[in-house]
Amino acid sequence: MTSDTPTTPDEPGPRPGPGSGADRGISRKTLLRAAVAAGAAVPLLATGGVALARDAARSGDGQRLTPTPYCDDGDDLTPDQMEGPYFKPNSPLRTNLVTPGTPGTPLTVSGYVFGRNCVPLSGVLLDFWQADDNGDYDMAGYTFRGHQFTGATGAFALKTIVPGLYPGRTRHIHVKVQAPGEPVLTTQLYFPGEPRNSTDMIFDPALLMNVRGAGGGKEGTFDFVLNVDGDTGPTDPPTDPPTDPPGGTWASGHAYTSGDRVTYGGRSYRCLQAHTAMTGWEPPNVPALWQSES
Ligand SMILES: [Fe+2]
Repeated sequence: MTSDTPTTPDEPGPRPGPGSGADRGISRKTLLRAAVAAGAAVPLLATGGVALARDAARSGDGQRLTPTPYCDDGDDLTPDQMEGPYFKPNSPLRTNLVTPGTPGTPLTVSGYVFGRNCVPLSGVLLDFWQADDNGDYDMAGYTFRGHQFTGATGAFALKTIVPGLYPGRTRHIHVKVQAPGEPVLTTQLYFPGEPRNSTDMIFDPALLMNVRGAGGGKEGTFDFVLNVDGDTGPTDPPTDPPTDPPGGTWASGHAYTSGDRVTYGGRSYRCLQAHTAMTGWEPPNVPALWQSES
C-alpha cells in the first residue's frame, strides 16, 4: 500500500453520468474502487465496508464481519458476458500468471467478491484467461490461464500482464466466477481509456476496472457481486459455546493429488484436483477442490 495521493486514475470511458437513466448514484462499488485506487481505505474505515472486513480479518479475534453498510445498490450485479472461443478447462491453480521473461506490462488485478446482500464471499472460484502481449491465446498450454479462490475476506488478487489486443475486440480479461455450489458467472473485465471500447459491441462499461499506473506497471481493481446470498464459510458466527476447532487429517501446506482422501471437521473429503493446501482452502470452503463423501 502506498500513502501517495492518487494522481488522476484513468477515467472510465462511457460510464453513465449523473442524471442519466442508468445513473446509480454513488454506489458501494464506486466507493470501494475509489478507496482502493487511493491506496488507503480511509474513507471506508469510518463507515465500515470492505476496510472493516479487512480489519476484522487482521485482528484475528474471530469477530463476525459486518455486512457492508451502504449496500443499497442491489441493482449492480456483475453482468455476464459471452465466454468466447478461447476458454480451456482445468487451468492451473495459481495467482501469478507471469513467468520470468514474459513480455508485457505488469498488471495486478485485485478486488472482492460479494453476495447480493453485500457479504464478502469466501471460497469463490475465479478462473482467469487472457491473451498474451501479442494478443494471442495459448490453446496448446495454459499460459495466462489460472484459477484461484477468494479467502475469508472475499478478496482475490491476480498477477498478470496487460493483455494484448486482437482483431475485433477491445482490451479485456476473461473470468469465470463461481461461489461454492452456485452457478458460474462468465464475464469479462475491461480497461478504461481504450480507443476500441467505443466500437466493441460486447464492451460493457459496468465491467470497467479502475486502473492506475503503478511503477512500471498497472494496478486494476474490480469487485464482483454475485447473484447469491452470502453468509457462508468462515464468516459464519461462532457457535456458543465454542466447539473444538475442526480437526482431521487435512493439513495446510500439504500437496494433495486427485483422489486423495482426508477428514476435516468430522467429515470425509476426496480431492478433485491436485493442489497444495493452504489456510482458507479448507475442504468445506473449496468444493472445486474437495468433494464431501459424508
Ligand atoms: Fe478474448
